[in-house]
Amino acid sequence: MKKIGVITSGGDAPGMNACLKSVVDMASNLGYTVYAFRRGYTGVINNDYVILNREDVSKIFNLGGSIFMSGRCLEFYQLSGPSKAAKVLNKLGIDTLIAIGGNGTYNGANELIKLGVKVIGIPATIDNDVYSTDESMGFDTAVNNAVQMIINIQSTMRANERVALIETMGRLAGDIALYSAMASESDILLVPEDKKTEDEILELVKDEIERGNSSPTVVLAEKQFDLNKLNKRIQDETGKECRSIILGYMQRGGSPTVNDRFLAIRYGVSAVQFISQGISNVVIGVRDDRVVTTPIADAVNLKSNFRADLYGLFKELHRMEH
Ligand code: F6P
Repeated sequence: MKKIGVITSGGDAPGMNACLKSVVDMASNLGYTVYAFRRGYTGVINNDYVILNREDVSKIFNLGGSIFMSGRCLEFYQLSGPSKAAKVLNKLGIDTLIAIGGNGTYNGANELIKLGVKVIGIPATIDNDVYSTDESMGFDTAVNNAVQMIINIQSTMRANERVALIETMGRLAGDIALYSAMASESDILLVPEDKKTEDEILELVKDEIERGNSSPTVVLAEKQFDLNKLNKRIQDETGKECRSIILGYMQRGGSPTVNDRFLAIRYGVSAVQFISQGISNVVIGVRDDRVVTTPIADAVNLKSNFRADLYGLFKELHRMEH
């Protein structure tokens, strides 16, 4: 009987629990045993696991977060980390480790592969910054959460004729900002893929006000600007009140959307099917609605595809360049 290991790793993403359940259900169908390690690679290094059966995962499908905890394992970046993990997996007789996470998780997986461990990666990160798939699990939920919050903020900002400066998550990627700005009819969008200066932003806000918009919404991806400084400049130079809001972890928490649940099922089931077919060392993805694979060794070196076409469309619709 095959033994499969599974971890949820990196920043958690809605859908991780649903994916875990799908792995366990499919594995049980095929007669495999699932070892779930706690806290990502940390659990593998520490030999900290539980063996799961169908009943153990029967009520987790709707839950956000990860019931076995996620996290970034600092020890994995040191030389000793991957070899300790490989020893634990070999000793337990794990055939393949399913690693559910984002780029950092794939990097860890790649180190394990070099040591002879078989791994399958499942893309789960709200940032959508992985190359291997059209959409990573968790992204849709984060965007939906962000859109709902932006819409709520807009109603109160408009009642007070204030400028709203709203920061989304995304690490170094502008995907959450792009999709949520587009879906909430926001006015100005600032993404790291097209860096703007503070002066340029001021011009964009002034243009909106001159066109008669008494309450422009600016959506910006995190890690680009000092929000307080930008807020103050907008107030000082437009004469309008401005409020800055960091959406933060409310984007990442909560129950997965239907879209993310479907992804979770497809990824989880496919991972186990691939193992049964002897396929490993790949990241699973869904492209044009078809399940595809990318070798992990390639995935770690490839950049995600920021939707420049959608960004161009946003700029055109919102006259950001005129
Ligand atoms: O990678 C997911 C993510 O939520 C990013 O969008 C964000 O920059 C980061 O994780 C936050 O990490 P932490 O949970 O360590 O604060």
